[in-house]
Amino acid sequence: MRQLLILFPCVLLCTAPGLAQIDGEQALAVFLAWRNSSENKQLSWEAATKKYLAKLVRDGLSPEQAGKTLSIVSSHDEGAFYDPVYANTNPTSPTAPSKLLREAVAGLKPGKALDVGMGQGRNSLFLATRGWDVTGFDTSKVGLEQARKAAAAANVTIRALHASDEEFDFGVAQWDLIAILYPIEKRSVFRVRQALKPGGIVVVECSHKEGANAPFEYETNELLRIFEGFRIVHYEDRMGQHEWARKTLRMVRLIAQKSD
Ligand SMILES: C[S@@+](CC[C@H](N)C(=O)[O-])C[C@H]1O[C@@H](n2cnc3c(N)ncnc32)[C@H](O)[C@@H]1O
Repeated sequence: MRQLLILFPCVLLCTAPGLAQIDGEQALAVFLAWRNSSENKQLSWEAATKKYLAKLVRDGLSPEQAGKTLSIVSSHDEGAFYDPVYANTNPTSPTAPSKLLREAVAGLKPGKALDVGMGQGRNSLFLATRGWDVTGFDTSKVGLEQARKAAAAANVTIRALHASDEEFDFGVAQWDLIAILYPIEKRSVFRVRQALKPGGIVVVECSHKEGANAPFEYETNELLRIFEGFRIVHYEDRMGQHEWARKTLRMVRLIAQKSD
């Protein structure tokens, strides 16, 4: 309770008016304290988040601020879910760099790369060792720590930031390459158009909605619609190896270039 009283005003203060200033870890701690109260702990995740959203609005946030706060809370909760996955000494997650990414950068002059939801850094590390100037972000502290250690061991530099996509500033015309590989959210693809430099490329790999019908999966041709006006370097929608699930699923893969 004391934690709640101390933290809650801060979260509110941080959300108004600059939403980007929300401290995700703190917002998650506040939410979890609320969620673990006797009144709320029996609720399903859906019911709890709906009730929490209403509470945030009652507490004075606009519906938009409340929605964004909840996205950030969920993203950090997702990172906490991935911590033990990465901590597992017998890894179940892929450690080799993405095949699509390797193909995408073959022959390209290295520049500034952004790795969205970088996990334990398998792709960031690959890019950095190929001479790219890499920034990545993720909500898993364990994944980020492993990425930093792997970079140090390989004697390369990467910026591995603890942030959700809602907290990270993608900027405008900042990146020569944006990698969105096996994401757990769909918002980042909509930030690419503005964030890429002219001539920059985006690489996306995810399963088709036909898989688990998860909100972050793609409908048929959805990525082509999102990147309309880009030069499509590669697009596929077919059964193939899901690097994370380690089985054959309907996969969507895109490499696209923003026009100069
Ligand atoms: C399936 S893993 C993919 C990791 C990496 N891209 C790869 O291909 O190995 C998804 C990653 O996204 C992170 N994540 C989930 N939601 C996020 C969000 N909203 N913002 C940033 N990272 C997020 C998780 O912590 C996890 O490391």
